[in-house]
Amino acid sequence: MTTDEPSQTPGRTPLISVRDLTVSYDVARTGRSLVAIEGVNLDVEEGEFVTVLGPSGCGKTTFMNVIAGLVQPTSGEVRVGGEKVTGPGPDRAVVFQDYALLPWRSVFDNVKFGLEMQKPLRGEGWRDRVQEAIELVGLAGFESSYPRELSGGMQQRVGLARAIVAKPRILLMDEPLGAVDALTREVMRDEIEKLITATGKTVLFITHSIEEAILLGDRIVVFKSHPGAIKEIIRTDIQRPRSERSVQSDPRFLELRDHLWDALQGEATAAAKTSGS
Ligand SMILES: Nc1ncnc2c1ncn2[C@@H]1O[C@H](COP(=O)(O)OP(=O)(O)O)[C@@H](O)[C@H]1O
Ligand SMILES: [Mg+2]
Repeated sequence: MTTDEPSQTPGRTPLISVRDLTVSYDVARTGRSLVAIEGVNLDVEEGEFVTVLGPSGCGKTTFMNVIAGLVQPTSGEVRVGGEKVTGPGPDRAVVFQDYALLPWRSVFDNVKFGLEMQKPLRGEGWRDRVQEAIELVGLAGFESSYPRELSGGMQQRVGLARAIVAKPRILLMDEPLGAVDALTREVMRDEIEKLITATGKTVLFITHSIEEAILLGDRIVVFKSHPGAIKEIIRTDIQRPRSERSVQSDPRFLELRDHLWDALQGEATAAAKTSGS
């Protein structure tokens, strides 16, 4: 299996640049600190779709939260567009696994919140932007519904619309399809692929699904645990548009799936040994 070479062209600044990133958490209960990720380096080019794959607890969410500006590095740094990240900003939007919608607000007002978080709304132009985002994720007609009236898949579409409404350069998606049923997941993977291809966004997409990582990614960043770190980076090299169905017979898809399966199984075995079980 060929792993990835550094993706940056000499002289060009990558959109996201992660250098020697280490994050440890102070765990009050034990009085010790826990190293969640250690020595992570990654460059992401503008327009790239990077999937982050790894077992649960290997530090994927921590990694994404540092890029989002929600968690501060213990050492090392993250730069976006050359600027050091010190907190959240309008250039980055997050789609959370548990949707994180406001239950007392309608679909329209939840999506509007994506704009309100950035700056006070003036005039009426924002209405068209909210409507446009709702249409892009396929929720036209549900503007006045409330989250509790929607299926999990539809709620996650609202989360996606809220993230894209302010037109961020970077979408950070933390296992966004983890909580929806298998059929909806299949449909939404295909739709996310189309939506991102159409809008040309730079995406960091976290998943623990091997198929999802291959189907969506230009590159796959494989994490290992104890402590969390990058195990390898693989370029997928599968022609787009890809669909859940079409890739199933692609020899490259099958090769990658086998390889990643072995890589993750090795991780699971190592994790079991470390924990003494
Ligand atoms: N706020 C926190 N305080 C203490 N430990 C944390 C915190 N967040 C995550 N951890 C620990 O850091 C490790 C990595 O967690 P996380 O980044 O959520 O991994 P993943 O998203 O891959 O499941 C885990 O051992 C987790 O228990
Ligand atoms: Mg996580």
